[in-house]
Amino acid sequence: MDADAAKRLAAQAAADLMPEEGVIGLGTGTTTRFFINEVGRLVGEGRKFSAVPTSRRSRELATSLHIPLLDDSGPWSIDVCVDGADEVSTELDLIKGGGGAQTREKIVNRHSRQNVIIVDESKLSRRLGEKRAVPVEVVVFGHRATAAALSRFGDASLRFAADDPFVTDSGNYIYDVETGPISDPVELEEEFRHLPGVIETGLFCGRADVVIVAGAGGVELWHRDGRRMPAGAR
Ligand code: 5RP
Repeated sequence: MDADAAKRLAAQAAADLMPEEGVIGLGTGTTTRFFINEVGRLVGEGRKFSAVPTSRRSRELATSLHIPLLDDSGPWSIDVCVDGADEVSTELDLIKGGGGAQTREKIVNRHSRQNVIIVDESKLSRRLGEKRAVPVEVVVFGHRATAAALSRFGDASLRFAADDPFVTDSGNYIYDVETGPISDPVELEEEFRHLPGVIETGLFCGRADVVIVAGAGGVELWHRDGRRMPAGAR
């Protein structure tokens, strides 16, 4: 199965978990785009959803699909947020921010009663950091000084979009920090966040209630309490 087919299946399984009506957090990324399309289809069929997008790109797609959207200011009462991830550990901790949206994603995640993460199986690893660097969003002022502090944890590279530094929706830069396998992601997140200039990290520890994994073996729901079941089973 190719990655896009797996992403679509995970997104469809997430759509099946949605309440009859309510407020949905919309993550960012290629997997989440499949999910937003599913929500658009459900709204077209008459389901009463409104949504909080986590990026301009997700807002644009949702708008084009006529999904009613709440404004960016909050507060919101979000029933469930569906988002992607770049890496998922066996503890269901996450690295996010490959699309540069981790700050908004973390805010929406925190204000959602349930968080569902959708991934293809290529995102799975034993320990975070085995496959991906940790994206850290920093303020532009003094960013090279902040990067020097970040480099204590691994090589820290400023993210670029073509010839210029990538700028997040909130006007900041991102450094991707090559930590290698992380033994204590909670502690590392704390350490990053104590550095002046750091806005947010892509480490999401204990923030996934359900991870939907799609791959050659089918689609499975991995619950925080350790249960694993095929999609569709109740
Ligand atoms: C964006 C994210 C994405 O959810 C993450 O990068 C996964 O993206 P994709 O579904 O395209 O692989 O965290 O900031």
